[in-house]
Amino acid sequence: METNEIPIADQDAEQEEIDIAPTEEIIKNLPDDSRSHLIPTLQKVQDVYRFLPMPAVELVMEALNVTRAEIYGVISFYPQLRITEPGKYIIKLCYGTACFVKGAPIIGDKINDCYHIRPGETDDSKLFTLQTASCLGNCGAAPMAIVGDDTHGNIDPENYLEVLSEYKKDDAEEAPATEEATA
Ligand code: FES
Repeated sequence: METNEIPIADQDAEQEEIDIAPTEEIIKNLPDDSRSHLIPTLQKVQDVYRFLPMPAVELVMEALNVTRAEIYGVISFYPQLRITEPGKYIIKLCYGTACFVKGAPIIGDKINDCYHIRPGETDDSKLFTLQTASCLGNCGAAPMAIVGDDTHGNIDPENYLEVLSEYKKDDAEEAPATEEATA
């Protein structure tokens, strides 16, 4: 599994191929007091790539005149900022009080048993990234989770892996046909 730790040097090989133009565009439009725009700038860059690739982070550092320590301090502090590519679906599992007492920890354990991921990690097939939330705003439907764009409420902890397996199935169906299959 992958985590959101900060192996700065190790990222270079994997991330050589990104298109840096969108980051340049974001930086070009920064106001003069740009240091105070560090977090919104990182969020915009992440919106483009779904995570913060190293070359883009380097450009932001240079443009905003912030040190590597500063920028990674911010990235480590905000769990929504990611330096590794997330899975196709981000699972936001609510661990707020209402969801916690209704079985969120059981759901988290089952996800870990099946996909070997803890909060902040992505499974080896890059299908799911697990995150936790402190409240998803609908405690009456606890336990709650959001998977990609889908909201799941009143989850049965014992059967939730079946729900997640549907995403796995969809992903397999979307995969490009192999030469053998099309011959
Ligand atoms: S505590 Fe989970 S939705 Fe509020």
